Amino acid sequence: MAICQIVRMGHPVLRVPADAVKDPTSDEIAELVVDMIDTLEEAGGVGLAAPQIAEPKRVVIYHVPPARMAAERYKDSGLDENTPGIPMTVLINPVIEPLTQHTNTAMEGCLSLPGMAGAVERFSDIRVTFQTLEGKQDVIEAHDFHARVIQHECDHLDGILYPARITDFSTFGYLEEMQTHGA
Ligand code: NI
Repeated sequence: MAICQIVRMGHPVLRVPADAVKDPTSDEIAELVVDMIDTLEEAGGVGLAAPQIAEPKRVVIYHVPPARMAAERYKDSGLDENTPGIPMTVLINPVIEPLTQHTNTAMEGCLSLPGMAGAVERFSDIRVTFQTLEGKQDVIEAHDFHARVIQHECDHLDGILYPARITDFSTFGYLEEMQTHGA
């Protein structure tokens, strides 16, 4: 078990495209994923991309707690408090395609910009093709907050941090100030 340091915006590894994983079944990738899970659990976020622990490889992990699936702003999608969450999921060499042109805009944060948040527009419905740790090709469909998490994490693999996606900078700032002043 290893808890790694999460690098922050400004570190060059967060600005470059990550390398494809040649062998998802290798010990090196298995160890990387264990370290990522330990680091994410310690940090308390929903997702982490390998570049955030300074490993420029196309690997992301995420989970979605039930409470986030049923968040008020996603009620329109038919989700409610009985909606199960998504368990810890590993995506290796993921490729995203939008299933519809529907988008939604919501506040986003990132462990590489601690304490900050901003509104980002994302596709509402996506399909993700990826490899598993067993080396199998797999496909999932994701919607709303689940789709947002995947798009955010996969952006890290292309050297993109969420501020680059913000169109209304009046939404961007320190969470503590927004919560204190009700912005
Ligand atoms: Ni992030």
